[in-house]
Amino acid sequence: MGKDFLSPQSHPMATHQHQFEFEEYDNEHELPEADRFLLHKARTHTANAYAPYSHFRVAAAARTVAGHIVKGTNQENASYPVGICAERVLLSTLSSLYPDDPVEAIAISYQNVEGSSDSPASPCGLCRQSLVEYEYRLHHPIRLILSGQEGKILVIKRAKDLLPFTFTPEDLK
Ligand code: THU
Repeated sequence: MGKDFLSPQSHPMATHQHQFEFEEYDNEHELPEADRFLLHKARTHTANAYAPYSHFRVAAAARTVAGHIVKGTNQENASYPVGICAERVLLSTLSSLYPDDPVEAIAISYQNVEGSSDSPASPCGLCRQSLVEYEYRLHHPIRLILSGQEGKILVIKRAKDLLPFTFTPEDLK
């Protein structure tokens, strides 16, 4: 929110700026070994997506603090809104299998059967909200590794960076 954002009549008590840092890599060879492994898992696991309607196959692979690797894919439905994103399928699986084991990192990849898959896609708004709740619940940031089947990779330090002004359990108090 810079000065240009304000109308000439406004006199706020303060103005604020929001920014965050993220990393960019040219390709998987530049990533640390553990992250390269996780991205490889996500890229290959896109084959398991159930996406007969969008033909956009998404997979997410998580590494927990205890070292478990867990994967999820998007699951669509003929009744379109019933479909679930890969990230939320993954979080539900994690929460069911290892409810007390925080997540260190999640790699998210996709294969666009009808288009290109060479630039990172970031999680949708619903998934951002779910990811942030998981961070909050287990008191641990989740690093996000975003990439298509090839090419550029973005690494975001914590999911919350993608969702400023998050609605959290604190707001319910
Ligand atoms: N999708 C995901 O799985 N994750 C996202 O973050 C964005 C979208 C899925 C939902 C739907 O099955 C397909 O991609 C097209 O939107």
